[in-house]
This record gives sequence, structure tokens and C-alpha cells, in this order.
Amino acid sequence: MRIRIVGDEVLREKAAGIEKFDEELKQLVEEMFDTMHEADGIGLAAPQVGLSIRLLVTDTSELEKGTQPTAFINPQIVASEGESTFEEGCLSIPGVREEVTRPEKITLEYQTVDGVKKKEDFEGWQARVLQHEIDHLDGVLFIDYLSPVKKKLIASQLTAAQIA
Ligand code: NI
Repeated sequence: MRIRIVGDEVLREKAAGIEKFDEELKQLVEEMFDTMHEADGIGLAAPQVGLSIRLLVTDTSELEKGTQPTAFINPQIVASEGESTFEEGCLSIPGVREEVTRPEKITLEYQTVDGVKKKEDFEGWQARVLQHEIDHLDGVLFIDYLSPVKKKLIASQLTAAQIA
């Protein structure tokens, strides 16, 4: 799967909910895990591979013991608390890393690849990655949280890099 880079319209769309939990969806999840691992990412949302649907995968197992690669379908943050500031990057915005402040803990409702409904609390890396990836489902990128001046600077750097 080809990872879409900022400037691609699909990254700015609001993704559609998933209603069919079939073999095709399972296959798609596997392909997304492969694409994420090949890119050394810890999270990947479907719009980043050109699919405007509410699906994302994460793998924080190398950063946090006890966590496993997981697929989240139709995820929705229903509660959050605290605040933490952390440097983020994005496979769709190569070479850019900036600090972003987000809630520290979240409660998430989502469905598994089999359509089973779950409600779970997340903190640490998982909470951070999930919030970043869920933003992708709403067409939001982490650079949107930066000051207008910083965002403009990054945009010009990205354009220069694309031309180079
Ligand atoms: Ni991202």
C-alpha cells in the first residue's frame, strides 16, 4: 500500500463508518499492519493509504511492554483527562517532528475486526497514538495544532522538499 503524503485530498476528508465486518476487512487490516511495519510506524490510519474509512492500526509493543498490535474500527473517544506534551511525527508528513499537547488518558469505544464492541481506557503511548490516528479519520493532521506561523513554515519546507 502506498502511503499518502500531505497535500493529498484524502488526508483532509472525513472518513466513513464501517458496517461490514467481512474477510475483505480482515485482509485490509493485515495489509495495513504490513505497510505500517515496513514504514517503521507505530500507527497508521486508513486515509493514509487512500481509504476514507474509519479504521486504524497501532503497534506500540516496542515502546510499551504488554501492548500488542491492534486494529480499531469506528473508534470514538468518549472521555479524556489530564494533559501531556509530546513530540509527534507522521508517516504522511515526512521529516517533521513537533510537540503537541493532548489529553493524557482517554476512554475509547471501538469495534474489533470481528465487529465486537469494546470500551477501554488507554494512557501513555497508546493514548497518544490513538488520538493522532483518530484525528486522521476526521481529516485532521498534527500540524493543525501548531501556531499559524509554524504551520506556514512547515508547509513551505514541505513544498520545497517536494520540488527538490
Ligand atoms: Ni499521522
